[in-house]
Amino acid sequence: MSDAVSVRVPATSANLGPGFDCLGLALDLWGTITIRRSSEPTADEPMAAMALIGARRVFERTHVDAYQWQALYEGTLPIARGLGASAVARVGGIVAANELSEEKLDREELLSLATELEGHADNAAPALFGGFQVSAVDGKRVFHTSAPLPDGLQAVLFVPEMRVATKDARRVVPDSLSRADAVFNIGRSSLLVAALASGRLDLLDAATQDRLHQQQRAELMPAMVPIFEAAREAGAHCAYLSGSGSTICALATTNVEAIGAAMSAAGAANDAPGQTIITRPSAKGAEVVG
Ligand code: HSE
Repeated sequence: MSDAVSVRVPATSANLGPGFDCLGLALDLWGTITIRRSSEPTADEPMAAMALIGARRVFERTHVDAYQWQALYEGTLPIARGLGASAVARVGGIVAANELSEEKLDREELLSLATELEGHADNAAPALFGGFQVSAVDGKRVFHTSAPLPDGLQAVLFVPEMRVATKDARRVVPDSLSRADAVFNIGRSSLLVAALASGRLDLLDAATQDRLHQQQRAELMPAMVPIFEAAREAGAHCAYLSGSGSTICALATTNVEAIGAAMSAAGAANDAPGQTIITRPSAKGAEVVG
């Protein structure tokens, strides 16, 4: 049995507007989790702590002593900004522990464990499997599949300095919806998957509209709507709140620098300074790197 395993895991952008808790995109931005045998305690750092909890859940199932391991996180991913940092930590810990175990869990069991820890599958599925993942949870089972993306799609991320804790952002999401709003979101979410698969970039703006969580979350992120508008005016196909925020993601195929600059200016003008990251979807998910 090896004494240490490192796993690199992609950041993810969840919801994509109407697909609350169900749609998620892996991004070409990575964090690395290492699980290693050590009698030293894990550093008091949230990413390492979440990774260790994930690893212990696997070790309990694979009959490995869960208490002789230490977790480490390396990376510069924005934390608490709606880019799936918690899924990076948990999926990294889970995949590394599985790699260290002689009795292996299959990847669907790993997804089920990560989803249980996360509370939703929309970051966990793309973090583990890569690509654009559509998922539906039924108890411990996660039904999921990847859906195609158009060539040349890029993600322009505006990452505000302001953090948003997912648990706070989930409190403002209503428990029930009118039938009209439910139909609105089902239509948009389905349209989005089909528009991305068929390369209908002209439909992305309509397909990323939402009535379930974005407007409600604007109270935590007042600059959201002006940043959406700035991104679209600069040539983005669409813009949405990434996960529970505070990051805004614009999808584009051209003009990405100008879109990033416009989002950044709108953020600064609306009391939300931040940085811009230009990246692309990642077809790859978590992978063992050492
Ligand atoms: N679907 C989750 C939410 C993602 O929006 O609360 C959290 O990153």
